[in-house]
Amino acid sequence: MDKILVHGGRPLSGSVRISGSKNSALPILAASLLTRDRCVIHCVPDLSDIHYMLQILSHLGAHVERASGTVIIQAEKISTVAPYEIVRKMRASVCVLGPLLGRHREAKVSLPGGCVIGDRPIDLHLRGFRALNAACRVEAGDVKVFADELRGSTVDLEGKQGPTVLGTDNVMMAATLAEGVTVIEGAAAEPEVVDLAHFLIKMGAKIEGAGTRRITIEGVKELHGAEHSVIPDRIEAGTFLVAAALAGTEVTLRRVNSDHLKAVLNSLTDAGFRMDVQRDQITVHGNGSPRPLELITEPYPGFPTDMQAQMCALLSRANGVSRATETVFPQRFMHVSELKRMGADIELDGATAIIRGPSQLSGAPVMASDLRASAALVLAGLVANGLTEVNRVYHIDRGYESIDEKLAGLGAHIERVKDRSH
Ligand code: EPZ
Repeated sequence: MDKILVHGGRPLSGSVRISGSKNSALPILAASLLTRDRCVIHCVPDLSDIHYMLQILSHLGAHVERASGTVIIQAEKISTVAPYEIVRKMRASVCVLGPLLGRHREAKVSLPGGCVIGDRPIDLHLRGFRALNAACRVEAGDVKVFADELRGSTVDLEGKQGPTVLGTDNVMMAATLAEGVTVIEGAAAEPEVVDLAHFLIKMGAKIEGAGTRRITIEGVKELHGAEHSVIPDRIEAGTFLVAAALAGTEVTLRRVNSDHLKAVLNSLTDAGFRMDVQRDQITVHGNGSPRPLELITEPYPGFPTDMQAQMCALLSRANGVSRATETVFPQRFMHVSELKRMGADIELDGATAIIRGPSQLSGAPVMASDLRASAALVLAGLVANGLTEVNRVYHIDRGYESIDEKLAGLGAHIERVKDRSH
């Protein structure tokens, strides 16, 4: 397994281009199953999660072509079974259920396993499918959904942990081809849900309210092909904002959508960082010693759970006591033990991390886990004394396109060591 070596202490400066959004591209690629026509998707990031999704679509019978950031998909004839050996690699593959149900009224997908940030139930997805008159069965590790005909209705998709992003995506996709009108109450309002809705509307779907907690979908007979460019990845952008705040003198992020980063920008401003914010680019003036913060992760537009680990790395350098509370994935603290090995002073109190600073971090061999926790370890390595060796970087490659090359381009002393043993 490859590893990333980070030699701390180098200041970051210059500019970096942010890639297309992983969490927007994945459901949009799945949505191409809703039509037999050709779909062309631009700004698709080169990530292992995307590779797995393209593998699943090919396995289902779609014709898939990829030329750098553009993917062409044509799902003329497709099967409706996504098998375990492919699905097990990525739980987001659950988002092929909705398109298969909408297109063929049936689907069988291996159940997504849990993952390090907690178990990943799909009960809300199934609640939505049942509301569309589909029968859902979970047996032998597979989830099967089928319906004689899909009929629109009203369904509240909010769960005890708030709205579901992929659940909203799945039900919205199936509802585009159901009889009648579907209203999703308690819908996720993430920008990636809005981007998917924009793509579906280009395919001929009738959708209103995407980006609010109430989405209305009027079913149509069929959808046609479309062309679309995926929005910039707001979590990659947030990760580089934190890298610049930690280790920067002055860093500019290009091809961002700053509207999608308001909660992160507000937190960094509260922590004392000066930023020049334009619609599609942001310049951060690092100072490496933030003010302490009280963070609570919430569904969009609140502070994103996918940025919590990165902020823990930053706040270990703050003058004072900070708290980061997870309300979306209460167990999402795999990074804490590794950051402590680097000298951070963090203790867990239930779903809250209490971070005391400033700590002088020291490089150490650390273990990557969930992709955002792994990115947080790389960020910590940028300002740690000595060498940080991040193992199992395949976790990082799931969600970040060439993070080592992009950071090296900003002046970091970072290198990827290929594991020649296999
Ligand atoms: C999406 O996951 C993202 N992944 C996650 O990003 C992100 O952290 C998450 O949304 C929350 O914003 C993709 O878009 C591919 P959820 P998703 O359904 O849709 C509970 C990353 O780093 N829940 O919004 O799977 C669930 O357990 C990844 O790129 C149910 O209880 O998350 C969680 O506590 C990590 N029942 C909460 O809801 C369900 O049926 C939010 O989950 C579904 C979810």
